[in-house]
Amino acid sequence: MNIQKVTVIGAGQMGSGIAQVAAGAGLDVKLHDIEEEYVQKGLQRIGKNLARQVEKGRLTEEEKEGVLGRIQGTNRLQEAAREADIVVEAVVENLHVKTELFRQLDPLCPDHAILASNTSSLPITEIAAVTQRPERVIGMHFMNPVPVMKLVEVIRGLATGEEVYRTVDELARRMGKSPVEVNDYPGFVSNRILMPMINEAIYTVYEGVAEPEAVDQVMKLGMNHPMGPITLADFIGLDTCLYIMETLYEGFGDPKYRPCPLLRKYVKAGWLGRKTGRGFYNYE
Ligand code: CAA
Ligand code: NAD
Repeated sequence: MNIQKVTVIGAGQMGSGIAQVAAGAGLDVKLHDIEEEYVQKGLQRIGKNLARQVEKGRLTEEEKEGVLGRIQGTNRLQEAAREADIVVEAVVENLHVKTELFRQLDPLCPDHAILASNTSSLPITEIAAVTQRPERVIGMHFMNPVPVMKLVEVIRGLATGEEVYRTVDELARRMGKSPVEVNDYPGFVSNRILMPMINEAIYTVYEGVAEPEAVDQVMKLGMNHPMGPITLADFIGLDTCLYIMETLYEGFGDPKYRPCPLLRKYVKAGWLGRKTGRGFYNYE
């Protein structure tokens, strides 16, 4: 199946990155969010990223304008969905929000459209089950920051069709990414391994073993991680980290996945990390 029209739902840090990379690969992109203000913010983020590439001599001004010209922002779901060959959903990591969205999208999209979710941890099979096209629903999990990270985890739901899998695998390659096939279990592979490490790092802060800076230094200098786990948690978004831990905890029923109370406290305070200007570190 040939993909030319990509609709991205959610213009936050992931959605805007996915839209940027898709448009960079020559695809026509619609970028949707619930409020016009959020759509504009996403478009601005893309503009800034591309301007940095121009400054670095990696992109010409014309190429930048070409990429931006291929992205159309909208806050109307119907308009976003109408002509899509594929929808990549990148809204908040909440099963109820995602299933509601897929329920709405299903009748709005052309019959041939693939509905993909960028979920970090939630069940693709359950999301697919609310639609009339479960065989055309799949997980397409990009990593943050999308323009930089090579991996796309491609998640097969129980009903995902073979042609749909192949199309998404090909699309990821066209976007310059390296897809890896995984099955549908909580957190898939990436976050089943990454998030317990982050949660454990937060526990070491919670239990007074070390300050966040010290935890980060240990993992950066000792294990050669590009970012320490506390910095990475702020970078991902503490809300997203908490939702992923809750999905692991619920999905496996194993106490080893219990979210750290300090993580809960930060999320309740609205200290969500870089995106709100404050998390374990201050970004203001
Ligand atoms: N958006 C776009 N590009 C970005 C960027 C962003 N937010 N941040 C950095 N970059 C680009 C820079 O422009 C630079 O590009 P060039 O090489 O073309 O110049 C390049 O990345 C390197 O950036 P810097 O030199 O400024 O900084 P750095 O060397 O410290 O790298 C980093 C930044 C790539 C983010 C690096 O710190 C890193 O790899 N961190 C870990 C990221 C990670 O683990 N991501 C996975 C998160 S988990 C996830 O995504 C799954 C989930 O479901 C939660
Ligand atoms: P974010 O908070 O930056 O952005 C989410 C966006 O979705 C917001 O702009 C919000 O207004 C919008 N939104 C919420 N409900 C919506 C709806 N019903 N319709 C349209 N838009 C809606 O979050 P993010 O970090 O971009 O994460 C988005 C998704 O990507 C989550 O499922 C997350 O788990 C996943 N993910 C995140 C990361 C990461 O490192 N942050 C990495 C990989 C995957």
